[in-house]
Amino acid sequence: MSSKILIIGACGQIGTELTTKLREIHGVDNVIASDINTRNLDLVNSGPFEIIDAKNFNAIKDCCKNYNIDTVYLMAALLSATGEKYPMEAWDLNMNSLFHVLNLAKGGTIKKIFWPSSIAVFGPSTPRDNTPQHTTCEPTTVYGITKQVGERWCEYYHKKYDVDVRSIRYPGIISHKAMPGGGTTDYAVEIYHEAIKEGTYECFLSENTELPMMFMDDAIKATVELMQAPAEKINIRSAYNLAAISFTPKQIFESIKKHIPDFTITYKPDFRQAIADSWPSSIDDSVARKDWGWQHDFDLDKMTQEMIENLEKQVCRVDFNPR
Ligand code: SER
Repeated sequence: MSSKILIIGACGQIGTELTTKLREIHGVDNVIASDINTRNLDLVNSGPFEIIDAKNFNAIKDCCKNYNIDTVYLMAALLSATGEKYPMEAWDLNMNSLFHVLNLAKGGTIKKIFWPSSIAVFGPSTPRDNTPQHTTCEPTTVYGITKQVGERWCEYYHKKYDVDVRSIRYPGIISHKAMPGGGTTDYAVEIYHEAIKEGTYECFLSENTELPMMFMDDAIKATVELMQAPAEKINIRSAYNLAAISFTPKQIFESIKKHIPDFTITYKPDFRQAIADSWPSSIDDSVARKDWGWQHDFDLDKMTQEMIENLEKQVCRVDFNPR
């Protein structure tokens, strides 16, 4: 029997593409998308959809019971930059939604959970280059604190109650479908949109700020493979380090310039610079590679090619749309 899946936060940057992928694998009717509102109409109209506030335990529980859900992907969260503006809201959403699904698994309503962690669990006292799986984690953002604490609770629920919860420390994710919202790594998406629309971009991080990043296709592949891996291969029940590429604003700018030679950039660091400065520049993900065979496909130039091709198609579609 095919798995019945609920995706919470399905209208977000990762949720949108994860929903499509999981529906390809499991069938449209076996993947229930949910979000707090219907902001992504393409997604809402593409299969079963429910409005769910991730902070509402009963709403999640009722949905799981109504659809016989066995697996939940909890993608709803407030990210790093928004979390600094609304610290209590970030704590409330990021922690309570996690407890809700962990407790549903503990109580036997669901069997399996995917919950994303982040490179934000690391802080200024973490080794910056090739950050190991097991290392000092003293995050300085509210978002990072919620992810670090969440990792501890995931491991606790696995050890104590045998909950099958799996997690990845996502780096910055670059994609051309749904926009990211409220993150520090968002510049690496915005830059492509502005390159195509305006030919110029004002970057909110300084030119040599190196951060770990990944193209969406790799992030989705990792998520699916981690969830498909046999339980005995999953030795980390907090969250796996995961890496693909690391680059600076200057390097992504140069990669885009190969396609758009007149593209220009200026740098105007804001409060997000301090967040970026507290995070690693590159990640050692050898444990994920060893445990469940993780391999990435996209380097910077391959990603740039894919981003530009797809965004140009979107611009053409909009231009040819009669109003
Ligand atoms: N992309 C996230 C952020 O910038 C990091 O997980 O907040």
